[in-house]
Amino acid sequence: MARLAICGGEKIRTAPWPAWPVWDERDEQAVLATLRSGIWGRLTGDRVSAFEARFAEVQGADYAVAVVNGSVSLRISLLAAGIEGGDEVVVPPYTFSATAMSVVEANGVPVFADIEEDTFGLDPDAFERAITPRTRAVIPVHLGGQAVDMDRICAIAAAHGITVIEDAAHSHGARSGGRGLGTIGDLGSFSFQSSKNLTSGEGGIILTNNEDLAERCHSIHHCGRSRGGEWYEHRVLGSNYRMSEMQAALLLTQLERLPEQTATRDANGKYLNERLAAIPGIRPLPRRSPEDVNSYHLYPFRYDAEAFGEIPRSRFVKAVQAEGVGCAEGYTLPLYRQEFFLNKAFGPYTGWRESNPGLDYNTVCCPVCERISYEIGCWLPQTYLLGTQADMDSVVDAITKVYECREELAAAEV
Ligand SMILES: Cc1ncc(COP(=O)(O)O)c(C=O)c1O
Repeated sequence: MARLAICGGEKIRTAPWPAWPVWDERDEQAVLATLRSGIWGRLTGDRVSAFEARFAEVQGADYAVAVVNGSVSLRISLLAAGIEGGDEVVVPPYTFSATAMSVVEANGVPVFADIEEDTFGLDPDAFERAITPRTRAVIPVHLGGQAVDMDRICAIAAAHGITVIEDAAHSHGARSGGRGLGTIGDLGSFSFQSSKNLTSGEGGIILTNNEDLAERCHSIHHCGRSRGGEWYEHRVLGSNYRMSEMQAALLLTQLERLPEQTATRDANGKYLNERLAAIPGIRPLPRRSPEDVNSYHLYPFRYDAEAFGEIPRSRFVKAVQAEGVGCAEGYTLPLYRQEFFLNKAFGPYTGWRESNPGLDYNTVCCPVCERISYEIGCWLPQTYLLGTQADMDSVVDAITKVYECREELAAAEV
């Protein structure tokens, strides 16, 4: 008789997982009060400024500029850093498209450098090897909220006069070496899109400890105006990237829950690390230090097919999903393998031509990223980690069952 759910057996889990987003009367009242105030934009309101101050405080930065999303926040950061046509920006290939596309949108050239197997984030050595005289910035991504080695990345960057822009889209509440992620480099970019650990449906923010960079970001997000200037006085290239009061009202109440939610995810992540490590062929990512706080926007782990009788990852993931656990294969294509890069479909952004007319992403190969993308990378969504320890046990039970029934899975026609 079949044991695996994918073969017709009983599922490990039928109960629902924690829902997302989480809200109650506090959020309803905050949004309603904003609605009734009739002040819906930041030009006349105080909610966006209040949120900027509060989020900067929570994460540990001096300045914040709230914007419409976490893609634009990257582009504004690059513009504020002074990226010009043809400047190179080092990025990891294991990330959401925005990390690299924002570089093209700033008229720069994304240069891909490989990632580490232990963090799924930028490898400092690969970053160093990718540096050329044209390198102006680097965008390390804290994948899933797990810190990359910021000490080394910042030291290498400083030695070459390179601006560090942390893509902290997954890192609300995360800390490493006592510092909030997104506050360690020159600029930090966050997203508040629906799936994120702190959300208002859409939204983003830039953090920095550098007053000059903060002013530049503020100006760019406010149509190129400068503080104290006239309304129709535009000094630099900018646009309207302002967050609305409605978004900020929601983010302010959502932010009140973040510390507790982060603590829950972090504790569940530690627990999963311990328990999943006991299953042959499953390797959780080691934590940089026991004191660090991981926001676990994603809970990534590595799957080694050999221990599972050479069952490919896609089949393993489908079997776990069938047990009622929404495990995913993660990013299944290194960014440089996307059509956009292979065909250099960069539209009006021609910076790459000036610096490197022979630029060809077909020749890029980052072996660690390829292995993670094609063979071993898996992850669970942050909402799972908001559950109880018993919920985490059902994740472990589902994966253990698939391991124990690997022969059944190998023989199954699924
Ligand atoms: C790593 C990373 N960077 C940037 C972004 C872009 O954020 P947004 O969707 O708010 O534009 C995302 C969103 O998924 C992301 O995951």
